[in-house]
Amino acid sequence: MHSDRRSFLEKMSQMGALSLLSAPPTLASNASAEEKNHVVVGPYLQNMGTNEVTVMWITHKNCLSWVEYGAGMFTYKRAVGYNNGLIEANNRINKITLTDLKPGADHKYRIVSTEILGYKGSKVEFGETITSPTYTFKTPAENEEEFKLVVFNDIHDRPQLIPQLLYRHGYTGNKPDYDFVVFNGDCFDWVTEERQMVDHLIKPTVDIFATEKPFILTQGNHECRGSFSRHIPNYFAYPETKYYYAFTRGPVRFVVLDSGEDKTDDSVEYGGLSAFDRYRETQRTWLEKEIESSEFKKAPFRVVFIHISPYHSGDWHGTLHCREQFGPLLNKAQIDLQISGHTHRYATHQPDTTHNYPIVIGGGPLEGQRTLIRLHATTKELRLNMIRDDGEVVGKLTLPKKTRP
Ligand SMILES: [Fe+2]
Repeated sequence: MHSDRRSFLEKMSQMGALSLLSAPPTLASNASAEEKNHVVVGPYLQNMGTNEVTVMWITHKNCLSWVEYGAGMFTYKRAVGYNNGLIEANNRINKITLTDLKPGADHKYRIVSTEILGYKGSKVEFGETITSPTYTFKTPAENEEEFKLVVFNDIHDRPQLIPQLLYRHGYTGNKPDYDFVVFNGDCFDWVTEERQMVDHLIKPTVDIFATEKPFILTQGNHECRGSFSRHIPNYFAYPETKYYYAFTRGPVRFVVLDSGEDKTDDSVEYGGLSAFDRYRETQRTWLEKEIESSEFKKAPFRVVFIHISPYHSGDWHGTLHCREQFGPLLNKAQIDLQISGHTHRYATHQPDTTHNYPIVIGGGPLEGQRTLIRLHATTKELRLNMIRDDGEVVGKLTLPKKTRP
């Protein structure tokens, strides 16, 4: 009897244990997902050149993170972040640049993060390690003769536009028909937290392309707004941690400018915390040097991204100050093309007496006004198509290579 009772209790306790083990799986797994470290989003690629790329991802907990990578089939190299003699660690937002890539080659990579549980004095205590699947990207060749890109603008917190436009108009057959993607400002209305950045921009890009192809976020006036706006640059990699810069891909020199806010710095909405006049003047000084650089001068094509066009974009202060600061230089530089957003009215403006280059402005966030701009660059010409969400081509340019003195 006694042994029967013990056996019964043992059985009960085993059942209890089993029932705990087999507790409602959703509850158990959700609870552990909340607790355990995981990749919040990523990896996503930034700033790709012929021999470098920056791999970014966000972990749930603070970690020591690295990238395992290599040209060809195997991930035989390892890169960490590095700052002032310290290997980057105890952080969540990872920005690791691979600098010894092979031009024009497929590379495999995966991300690895080991949780840092804490410090005991100066000693680090490590937790579990998480590893991503292996992904592939291809670097551009040294003398790349052609490439394609697509441009979004003014998504305004409607992340569903990203798959809608890309899957409908960015593919040829079932293959993505672009090498990189530009978000030309105003991805958000205003930015209040990391979750918004992840859900409304980074995650949709990772789901579709960003593990394999890089993207650029150009600052629009709406990225300047909200409590989180000053943290946005932490989530992206730029050549020199600035929103204005230039880079060369194949036959094209790209210049990215930051048009800043649309109203005057003393507008009551900005609470005395804006200094965009000064910022645009600093960019003008930088642009003066850029258009005299050999990289700019020798490039067969020069394309400018700027959220607010200095022309055909109303007469608010931002537009007029961009016109005053950048207009004469862009005319002098004989750029081939400027691509903008902001007005929410798609349009193609041919050269006129105020600007000697064509300006293409993408549409707004609402159905029937959304556009995807496709640009195909070859050594002979730039071909641009602006496609509305219903498939109608609403802008078309073919720009042959200019003869320059
Ligand atoms: Fe805008």
